[in-house]
Amino acid sequence: MKRRDLLTLPATAALAFSANPKPAKLTPGQLAADPQRPKFHLLPAANWMNDPNGPIYWKGRYHMFYQYNPNGAFWGTMHWGHAVSSDMVHWRHMPVAMAPQPGLYDKEGVFSGCCVVNEGVPTFVYTGTRPEESQCIATARADDLRSWKRPASNPVIAAPPEGIDATGFRDPCVWKQNDQWFMALGSGQKGVGGMVLLYQSPDLTKWNYIGPLFEGKLDPEAKGNNVVARGEMWECPSFFPLGEKHVLFVSTRGTTPCWIGTFKDNRFSAEWEGSIDTGSYYAPITQLDDRGRRVVWGWIQEQRNSEAQRAAGWSGVMSLPRVLSVRQDGSLGINFAPQLRSLRGKRQEFVGLFIPEDKPEPVPGVAGDALELLATFDMGDADEVGLQVLGTPVLYSHSRKRLRIGTARLEQNNNLQVQRGEPLRLHIYADCSVIEVIADGKCALTGRSYQAPGDSQQVYAIANGGSAKLRSFTAYEVRPISSDRLTT
Ligand code: FRU
Repeated sequence: MKRRDLLTLPATAALAFSANPKPAKLTPGQLAADPQRPKFHLLPAANWMNDPNGPIYWKGRYHMFYQYNPNGAFWGTMHWGHAVSSDMVHWRHMPVAMAPQPGLYDKEGVFSGCCVVNEGVPTFVYTGTRPEESQCIATARADDLRSWKRPASNPVIAAPPEGIDATGFRDPCVWKQNDQWFMALGSGQKGVGGMVLLYQSPDLTKWNYIGPLFEGKLDPEAKGNNVVARGEMWECPSFFPLGEKHVLFVSTRGTTPCWIGTFKDNRFSAEWEGSIDTGSYYAPITQLDDRGRRVVWGWIQEQRNSEAQRAAGWSGVMSLPRVLSVRQDGSLGINFAPQLRSLRGKRQEFVGLFIPEDKPEPVPGVAGDALELLATFDMGDADEVGLQVLGTPVLYSHSRKRLRIGTARLEQNNNLQVQRGEPLRLHIYADCSVIEVIADGKCALTGRSYQAPGDSQQVYAIANGGSAKLRSFTAYEVRPISSDRLTT
């Protein structure tokens, strides 16, 4: 580990690291004292999390499950962690919902999946690894969704269909249509590209392969040995109706391509292509909230090295809930869930703040590590406009039609083209080391900022290559979701 890396660690983690290269488990007090640990995002009290799994609103409560390693802040021995909420905002941790079972089809990991209600019984459909991937189910023993039973019929799909040289076979997304169950499953074909397989079942136990739901083409430029990084394998498909259309997204090549189109004769055809989020965000999954809104959750990844993650004692954060829609022009609409407004604390408002060229302008009195910011810019003749928050710039470039947070780039999005004279609206949540941004309700970008203790948390308005104006600006302090930062 380099000295520079050590210096950017929180004090508790740096101590743990220097005392022992394989850090001892941190105490709850040490974890709670970590200034980089988010205050209003969901994450396990300690250790590693990745994908959100099986989010469901059941009997008046939101249940969130997620890929969890109880052995430390690194990926491995995947379990399903569990948290409960009455509003999708304030969470309480529950005991682990599912652990790998020795000798069985998920002995090497309980991988990602979904939760559906079958004849009144919440049922997980997930991937077991043995290490071969197969699809399995588990049924809830009671309405608190704490304890799950694996039926003798597992695995319900033991292997990929004949004739497909599959690069992977995992992460079922299941829904019901006309009394039949359907499953979209992440896969790909060697040398061809990622694909989503479509299955059908009368009862979640007997499954028939129908054919590919949607296929990608391998980018000839794509390099590396890893089939997911190369785009030859698509993980975590999500498929659901939205308005008059259907939406499909997958996770591959470190990002989250999304298509809007039509589902007909068991095939999906795309009419619009974009992304859910091209920043530190992966493996999104959706659910319906109590009002029928389509809410998407994603895994916010760390952007620091694995030693720093192990030393901190935690890694990975659940994104804030975002509501999806199809806009009038057929593109994706995305906005933070209105439930988050319940976290708003002290409010400050400004209008008509001039932003000089190339000289960040402090927004008077607006500083902190837990903030919600709503800014409407008039770009003037500037090329880039935005805010600096947690020491990190969040900028939209007019010439590049690009939004960025520090180094996270949103380049491929054909959806954010703000003309001069038109307002640009940024909605930002900043939480200690997490920055989530939604621009104009059209595209989202997540970034990380690991500030050192004592760094400035002042918010600045920025205009590069010309001057600009903040037409309006509202800042809220955001209240923490638990008193000890550990969501217990
Ligand atoms: C995506 C993923 C899934 C898999 C899980 C394992 O991040 O690789 O494909 O089910 O994570 O933790």
